[in-house]
Amino acid sequence: MAKKNSKTQSTARQILDMNAFDAETRESTSNPLLERRLANVGASAVLFYREPLEIVSASGSWMTAADGKRYLDFYNNVPSVGHTHPRIVAAVTDQISKLNINSRYLNSVLDLYLDALKATFPASLSNVVLSCSGSEANDLALRIAAATSGGTGIIVSENAYHGNTSIISDISPSALKRHKLPDHVVTVPAPSHAGQSGSIENAFAADMKRAIAELERRGHKFSAFICDTIFSSDGVYADPPGFLRKAIETVHNAGGLYIADEVQPGFARTGEAFWGFARHGVVPDIVTMGKPMGNGFPMAGLATRPELLARFCEDTGYFSTFGANPVAAAAGMAVLNVIHDEQLQDNALRQGKHITGRLLDLAAKDDRIADIRGAGLFLGIELCRPGQKDQPDAEVASSVINGLKDRGVLIGAAGRFGNTLKVRPPLSLTEEEADIFVDRLEETLSSIATA
Ligand SMILES: Cc1ncc(COP(=O)(O)O)c(C=O)c1O
Repeated sequence: MAKKNSKTQSTARQILDMNAFDAETRESTSNPLLERRLANVGASAVLFYREPLEIVSASGSWMTAADGKRYLDFYNNVPSVGHTHPRIVAAVTDQISKLNINSRYLNSVLDLYLDALKATFPASLSNVVLSCSGSEANDLALRIAAATSGGTGIIVSENAYHGNTSIISDISPSALKRHKLPDHVVTVPAPSHAGQSGSIENAFAADMKRAIAELERRGHKFSAFICDTIFSSDGVYADPPGFLRKAIETVHNAGGLYIADEVQPGFARTGEAFWGFARHGVVPDIVTMGKPMGNGFPMAGLATRPELLARFCEDTGYFSTFGANPVAAAAGMAVLNVIHDEQLQDNALRQGKHITGRLLDLAAKDDRIADIRGAGLFLGIELCRPGQKDQPDAEVASSVINGLKDRGVLIGAAGRFGNTLKVRPPLSLTEEEADIFVDRLEETLSSIATA
């Protein structure tokens, strides 16, 4: 008999705790691979689901477990153009069989890729630095911002996650388990209608002004505002497009930089634009990116204005042994080509609208669905106690996630309380696969209702 998990109550939760295996409340002990994993990585183990899954292969939108069961991957945002896409596999295989070295040699594979990548950005962001993880890219972005602004004061959203280096953990409230944010970090609430009247754009700009004043009051010179442009870990806040505009004006007027963290919404996922910031009609000073950039090949980076990078490089050089290697460039180029040739941005928009339409029908019948948010194939479904939109229900969210897993569909959780279902299928999703998800979600919700 499973113990009741106190972490599923409606209290604020750490991001790595969401939809996570919990050794203390585990339901079974009969998995030798799980025991080995726990023995090998110890307290740092982070595994999805009450009963972790062993996955052995994947293709397109589907992953296959060791017992042969197939799962529709609706949590995907790394192999974003589809698992084991043949063009990515071919590009990586071909390049690694020819040459893989660091970026201190000239090699046209890298520069062809950088030219293609830059074509997706506003013209002002004409310098790119590649790294191996989103955390490294954000770490460098903060250092560039500090060199430019002469300050270290940072503003982030209340439940932000930006990565795992020392300075980035300090600006990731959702990663902190015990200690508080450091003094130089101030938060703003996620841009939502909750608890405020009037436009989200004005409210968010007013929150930004207050946060800047708070940094001043604490004696920290304002350096930058950094946000994930779809506020994923805050619970997925995408609408209305444009709501960032006034807040970014406020940031710039106060002498700060705007860093767009595109690690999650970037590379066409939102359907309406290639980058999340573009939906809001703003031009960042620095854009950071990662996750889907190499469709699973580890690569990340940032784009910025040449003068900002030049100022930073006056003090410190920057080099990464593995960042910008030719195999990464080949993977990245293949990703850009597949997004273009298979019209995946359009597909994300089309399938996202289809799923949202069906979810709205479901919400009309089920009063535990408080809200449906998102853009393209990046959706958040907020769950609440029946008919009580202001009462988040993390327990039902956890039951839905695990119930969907039993029915062969994988999703995740987000939001301060972990009560928002995070839905992110591959951009290559078909309508048939979209329907499987909604059908299984409906079945799962009704099984919980009658349990
Ligand atoms: C918005 C955001 N930024 C940055 C990161 C860090 O990326 P990485 O895990 O590649 O270091 C993540 C990872 O989940 C993220 O979600």
